[in-house]
Amino acid sequence: MVTYLDADLAPTRNTGQIKLYGPEAFEGMRNACALTARCLDELAPIVKPGVPTETIDRFVFEFGMDHGAVPATLNYRGYTRAVCTSINHVVCHGIPDAKPLREGDIVNIDVTYILDGWHGDSSRMYPVGTIKRAAERLLEVTHECLMRGVAAVRPGARTGAIGAAIQSYAEKERCSVVRDFCGHGVGRLFHDAPNILHYGSANEGVEMRPGMIFTIEPMINLGRPHVKVLSDGWTAVTRDRSLSAQYEHTVGVTDDGCEVFTFSPAGLDRPGLPG
Ligand code: MF3
Ligand code: CO
Ligand code: CO
Repeated sequence: MVTYLDADLAPTRNTGQIKLYGPEAFEGMRNACALTARCLDELAPIVKPGVPTETIDRFVFEFGMDHGAVPATLNYRGYTRAVCTSINHVVCHGIPDAKPLREGDIVNIDVTYILDGWHGDSSRMYPVGTIKRAAERLLEVTHECLMRGVAAVRPGARTGAIGAAIQSYAEKERCSVVRDFCGHGVGRLFHDAPNILHYGSANEGVEMRPGMIFTIEPMINLGRPHVKVLSDGWTAVTRDRSLSAQYEHTVGVTDDGCEVFTFSPAGLDRPGLPG
């Protein structure tokens, strides 16, 4: 039996109960998420061939410091960087390093800032220079998966409606949905109940209610859905080494749908893609 409770009355840990947030929390999340979105905007001209991902890490760290925010991934469960940078067949949790990005790479940059105690979690794909048509198509399909997931958010529906919308579109486009990672409740905690699956049926999952806040962050592969985690304990890659992409938004459920907290103020939700 799933239970919902007023977030103001809930302990600040994942009890499995679903927190329902009020207007002050929504305002806090708006601010944290806007900062994350601005950082992702500012990264667009920085991501170029020859730039190492540790330069991106440094930028995310300093941009946060300059605006009173701390990157949530720093020292999170042993992770020691300000950001995840996942290149080509890396599905998620890529660790920034000194290796330069190369023309034709696609890289996901996943930023989570903690501002006034609220977590703003979002990621986008960045083409590095000119990319192949197949890679561009994967980015387009993956962004469309995210937006179809967002469009399925409304009170009364189940979270499975999000996964169903994503999976049906991805598979129609002959892509596959990664099963090993999911979206998550977010707020004063980085990762909270409920899990948001990016596959499944509309009658699965929990009922969405106004005040819920969670991420939607589909990982979509050109090849098979299976992943493995490398010996660094973090880097997740496709087993068949096919290209993988991901976009992520943080959303809040409203009385008639949802509010997307992490939209780009500059209209750069899909950097490097037309539209
Ligand atoms: N930002 C990721 C997410 O979307 C989580 C990264 S956790 C880390 O949930 F430790 F790998 F950084
Ligand atoms: Co997330
Ligand atoms: Co994220």
